[in-house]
Amino acid sequence: MSKNICVLLGDGVGVEIVKSAVSVLEKIDSVYNLNLKFNYAPIGGRCYEETGVPLSEKTLKCALESDAVLLGAVGDWKYDKLAPELRPEKALLGIRKKLNLFANLRPVKVFDELLFSSPLKSEIAKNTDIMIVRELTGDVYFGEPRGIEIKKTLDNREIKVGFNNMIYDEDEIRRIAHVAFKSAQKRKKRVCCVDKANVLDVSRLFREVAGEVSKEYKDVELSYMYVDNCAMQLVLNPRQFDVILTGNIFGDILSDEASTICGSLGMLPSASLSDGNTPFMYEPIHGSAPDLAGKNVVNPIATILSAAMMLNYSFDNILASQNITRAVKEVLKEGYRTKDIYQKGDELCTTTKITELIVDKIR
Ligand code: IPM
Ligand code: MG
Repeated sequence: MSKNICVLLGDGVGVEIVKSAVSVLEKIDSVYNLNLKFNYAPIGGRCYEETGVPLSEKTLKCALESDAVLLGAVGDWKYDKLAPELRPEKALLGIRKKLNLFANLRPVKVFDELLFSSPLKSEIAKNTDIMIVRELTGDVYFGEPRGIEIKKTLDNREIKVGFNNMIYDEDEIRRIAHVAFKSAQKRKKRVCCVDKANVLDVSRLFREVAGEVSKEYKDVELSYMYVDNCAMQLVLNPRQFDVILTGNIFGDILSDEASTICGSLGMLPSASLSDGNTPFMYEPIHGSAPDLAGKNVVNPIATILSAAMMLNYSFDNILASQNITRAVKEVLKEGYRTKDIYQKGDELCTTTKITELIVDKIR
């Protein structure tokens, strides 16, 4: 039986990085006979240009009917002036919501080969291995009410006020907490719930529910940390973390921060999972970097590693997944680097060159 992958290139560097990941998957297919089929659909700015909306019904259908979705990145400054509902980012939030992808797994694992690309001292960055479990369909990203409105001040002036609602119900917290605890059971059995419970009511509920869920996982240790402290601890001592359980906005910010431990934002993959009734989606954690687009310089490894996560989580093929990770590691070991992770003495590669090297290593 064939496996249908919905491929959403998106904008900016999305096109190049997904192309790289697809050639890696094609090679994997030739080794493991997976019978992969790639169905392309536009999303974000590209989709807006073609159809007038950033996420068309056709694209949504392609995603919903697939076995897994591979996404590049969306967004370009040229769309900054569009109405909020037409902006490329809206398509990303839209597809996450429509596919019910509430659990975003962002592994932060440092390759020894890249320790010198990390801005942290090697002895601090070394052996970092964190799984950020970010809730992806709630929080201020989706909370209502939201908007920018006019209000009257006491002295009768009209001023604008912008607002978003940071909101979680206990069902939403419970299901993401289960994902975090299950993930910890396969790792070092520690979950750190990251929130701002000293200030926010929504965080106090988050903590309470995480605590309740933890009772079902007696083998996993639960700790709590405020998000500001977590931001600091990530660069002071990242090895203290195993699984970080957190909400949408804190997870967004902390994962960008954590990526620098690995040497570059271009190294971090992600998997977005649902309850199993809809296909999962795989995308790098970085954005569309329009300034780098079309120059053949972007690092495709985050997307290639996202494809590796797809083989693991959607197709249950751990060997094929590990094959990709090993290939990436070997290429890095031999000193090949894209610009973002380049250090003096390395072999500087284009996007296409490093992709070819990785594809060659898969066997
Ligand atoms: C991410 C990105 C997105 C997010 C943007 C592009 C909407 O930053 O996947 O981390 O905020 O979730
Ligand atoms: Mg982000």
